[in-house]
Amino acid sequence: MDVIWYTAMSMDGRIAAPGDDLAFLETIGVGSAPPEDEFNEFLAGIDAVLIGGSTLRWLVAHGHGWPHGDLPTWLLSRDAQLRIAVGEVERPIHQREGDVRAVLEEMEAAGHERVWLCGGGDVAGQLLAIDRIDEVIATIAPTALGAGPALFDAPDLPPDLRFTLEEVRRYAEHAARLVWRRARDGGE
Ligand SMILES: NC(=O)c1ccc[n+]([C@@H]2O[C@H](COP(=O)([O-])OP(=O)(O)OC[C@H]3O[C@@H](n4cnc5c(N)ncnc54)[C@H](OP(=O)(O)O)[C@@H]3O)[C@@H](O)[C@H]2O)c1
Repeated sequence: MDVIWYTAMSMDGRIAAPGDDLAFLETIGVGSAPPEDEFNEFLAGIDAVLIGGSTLRWLVAHGHGWPHGDLPTWLLSRDAQLRIAVGEVERPIHQREGDVRAVLEEMEAAGHERVWLCGGGDVAGQLLAIDRIDEVIATIAPTALGAGPALFDAPDLPPDLRFTLEEVRRYAEHAARLVWRRARDGGE
């Protein structure tokens, strides 16, 4: 089962400014190819989602609810109110807490092969710490934030994990899109 961390970050690797402020995403600008098309193409290729409590809380607080309620979703959170706040969704959200390994095992046992890590940096850090990030698709916005959750927001990450650069290109008006694939087995 592959886990893909598809996200946007600042030049200094932050996925949000302090206070869960995502205004920096506006610096990406619009381009000739609407970013939504690429995102929809990506979504068509995944079969389950993993999301952290803070990312889902941001979506709910901004009136989006859970916009991908048609996809099997696992939520990592101890917040008993969060699922209630989401309201009705097409498929039940599996809320779990504790060891992220067990959550991945459950997703794998359910037959999922390509999982979108929707956010955020805290969950991404837990996954990288156990070497369960297979791909990173990151849009880099042309601004620095100085603080806020990092792309992998965890201390003591294994220093020897390497990724192979698969793609690098201009994205929309002012951003760059990078795709890295985890290089395993000593190859690549
Ligand atoms: N730039 C982008 O494209 C992008 C993408 C995704 C997210 N974001 C932003 O990033 C911010 C959120 O990222 P984040 O790194 O702060 O947080 P996060 O990873 O979304 O969520 C972290 C929270 O989830 C819960 N959690 C995580 N692991 C858990 C575990 N193993 N067991 C139980 N609960 C667990 C905990 O809180 P609770 O128990 O209280 O829920 C934890 O504080 C938001 O502002 C969001 O909008 C930006």
